[in-house]
Amino acid sequence: MVESDAPRCAELEAQLFGGDDPWPAEAFHRAIAARDSHYVGARVGGVLVGYAGIARLGRTAPYEFEVHTIGVDPAHQGRGVGRRLLADLLDYSGGGVVYLEVRTDNAPAIALYRDVGFVEMGVRKRYYRNGADAYTMRREAIK
Ligand SMILES: CC(C)(COP(=O)(O)OP(=O)(O)OC[C@H]1O[C@@H](n2cnc3c(N)ncnc32)[C@H](O)[C@@H]1OP(=O)(O)O)[C@@H](O)C(=O)NCCC(=O)NCCS
Repeated sequence: MVESDAPRCAELEAQLFGGDDPWPAEAFHRAIAARDSHYVGARVGGVLVGYAGIARLGRTAPYEFEVHTIGVDPAHQGRGVGRRLLADLLDYSGGGVVYLEVRTDNAPAIALYRDVGFVEMGVRKRYYRNGADAYTMRREAIK
């Protein structure tokens, strides 16, 4: 993605995450530009319909990674876009350990994450501003 995608990311994010602390455009702008982050988008006819980002943690190898966000326009969900975006993030991790947080009641996302090797490690109570809990999930390093 490029920095000019930030407003569209924020628009999708507000639609998808409502009360769960959606990122504003400035946050996407910074994250897309950051040296240690990798952001990818899915486009249909030039319109951004999906976005995903991951950050590399630490200063020296072996690095760990944290999925920041992943979202697909509701009109385009259920067609493999989210799976492809996540696969791209995992490619960027190069088989390193990857963490993420997900609402404990977000069954579609949890199913996708489990399917690619993430496992729930614990619950972060009231992780979101609206009081919802999150699972922390971890994907082990792939040797
Ligand atoms: C989670 C999300 C990114 C998945 O994107 P998507 O493009 O709809 O997903 P895909 O079509 O690639 O499906 C991938 C897998 O996700 C799971 N999945 C997707 N939709 C599902 C649903 N409605 N119910 C259960 N599992 C579902 C399945 O495991 C599916 O694999 P399958 O098709 O082999 O069964 C999308 O639902 C979304 O944007 N949700 C709102 C934002 C969000 O919750 N992001 C994650 C925050 S941590």
